[in-house]
Amino acid sequence: MPAIDREHLPQHVGIIMDGNGRWAKQRGLKRTEGHKEGARVFRRICEYANDIGIRFITFYAFSTENWARPPEEVSAIMELLREYLFEAEERKRENEARGMRIRFIGSQEGLPQDIVRLMNQAQEESLSATKTIVNIAVNYGGRQEILHSVRGLAQLVSAGEKKPEKITLEDIGNGLYTAGQPDPDLIIRPSGEYRLSNFLIWQAAYAEFWYSDVLWPDFKEADFDQALESYQKRNRRFGGI
Ligand code: IPE
Ligand code: IPE
Ligand code: MG
Repeated sequence: MPAIDREHLPQHVGIIMDGNGRWAKQRGLKRTEGHKEGARVFRRICEYANDIGIRFITFYAFSTENWARPPEEVSAIMELLREYLFEAEERKRENEARGMRIRFIGSQEGLPQDIVRLMNQAQEESLSATKTIVNIAVNYGGRQEILHSVRGLAQLVSAGEKKPEKITLEDIGNGLYTAGQPDPDLIIRPSGEYRLSNFLIWQAAYAEFWYSDVLWPDFKEADFDQALESYQKRNRRFGGI
């Protein structure tokens, strides 16, 4: 058992859920089977994070770049999201008791209308719960998010409500989907890839990274523990000494 100090957990953890396709391929299954298994693991890790007291957790589920995949794969992922949203409705009470609040980050543009409706419903329904905020990044791109924030500020400037020289870093942060939340302290990426892939690029400026070769559908609570244990051994300097 790794030694995790529950008093010094990262406030915000980001997880890039990668490796579903390769997991399926290794087993001679269709890629969509990997996504199915990945969705199960997402539910488990979500509850585990809540059990141990993580305050904010962000899961990367579908990127703005993932639309480039074959339409059948995109539809299968959307169908899994739909299933999750229906289930969230059924689990409303349980999530509330757990203090788990679901939020979606990303653009709603281009998503199927029924999914947008279910997402808004799921977000409203978990408003009061506050032990763990679960952000699910769907149709999310970090650059697009920054663009969205900057456009909002440009509108204020053109309306004469803000002077360009008065724009602060906080203003940009306040226009992001994660406004009001702490920046991620720790970002976890399984599947042996060592990149951010457009995930929380503004917010991750000082995040600690943890990589692993395990494919997301094989990711266990013990892997999460290992990442936390590694995080707790690090010396974060933020440019200081
Ligand atoms: C992550 O797994 C899920 C999504 C990006 C939606 P992948 O589907 O990227 O799996 P690999 O990287 O091809 O193995
Ligand atoms: C990142 O994984 C996006 C999600 C996990 C949702 P990708 O599989 O899309 O990333 P790349 O293409 O390998 O960088
Ligand atoms: Mg991938």
